[in-house]
Amino acid sequence: MKVEETTMTQNAQTAVKNVVQVRNLAKSYGPLTVLKDVSLTVAEGTVTAMIGPSGAGKSTALRCMNLLEKPDSGEIIIDGHVINAGKKISPKNLAELRRSAGMVFQHFNLFPHMTVLKNISLPQERVLGRSREEANTKSMELLRRMGLAEKADHYPSRCSGGQQQRIAIARALALEPRVMLFDEPTSALDPEVGVEVLEVMKELAAEGMTMVVVTHEMSFAANVSNELVVMADGSIIEKGDPREIMSDPQHERTRRFLRAVLER
Ligand SMILES: Nc1ncnc2c1ncn2[C@@H]1O[C@H](COP(=O)(O)OP(=O)(O)OP(=O)(O)O)[C@@H](O)[C@H]1O
Ligand SMILES: [Mg+2]
Repeated sequence: MKVEETTMTQNAQTAVKNVVQVRNLAKSYGPLTVLKDVSLTVAEGTVTAMIGPSGAGKSTALRCMNLLEKPDSGEIIIDGHVINAGKKISPKNLAELRRSAGMVFQHFNLFPHMTVLKNISLPQERVLGRSREEANTKSMELLRRMGLAEKADHYPSRCSGGQQQRIAIARALALEPRVMLFDEPTSALDPEVGVEVLEVMKELAAEGMTMVVVTHEMSFAANVSNELVVMADGSIIEKGDPREIMSDPQHERTRRFLRAVLER
């Protein structure tokens, strides 16, 4: 009986797949150490919210995860693709990693000289080798889902900030990533527009998308995320159940940050 129980527990444990594993990540810009020994695991289908004061290294950590920044040391494994900072990274490995991790930025970063449809279709053609027709079909499906089908032939500048951010999310989703990385996706938006974007993110989470979200939206962190990571001065100072950390932060730096955010 005991043996069976152990086996079942082991099976249950091995059934949990980690989509993201970051180990001992370190990064400096010249004399400035930005990340010190950052380790993080994100299980499939979970949402990790990352918070912390300005300059803590949140964006750098996220950018290292899909190698927009090159870490100095450490290891990143995304969906089984292993990147070791100490070793040369092959273009194939880099492409696979980038494809596995979709990124959404604070300022959307859409291509201004391309229509909305082209913004979403071109990466599919380039990265996945889809035909234009296949790519456009997929793009329209995603635009419909975002309630933005009528914007397909517009240029991004004719879309509101909230619409542009949903287009950016559609562009990332079109590559069928295994994890979505969001860097303060609503902080450049008016609160009422930000809500539309948060709704889309909430839906993605409910559908089981694995996500890492740098955010100051504490209600999103409390209600949607499964894990809260608090960063300060280049390190993870606290991580665990979001509501527990918010109601009973263990670190003075976390307490100070939460007070500052909640008073805004
Ligand atoms: N390309 C760069 N060159 C030099 N320093 C940089 C560079 N990018 C970031 N830094 C520095 O690294 C530190 C961490 O920056 P990072 O953007 O990761 O912080 P953050 O936690 O995302 O802050 P915020 O909440 O303001 O977005 C900061 O001190 C920043 O000035
Ligand atoms: Mg940042």
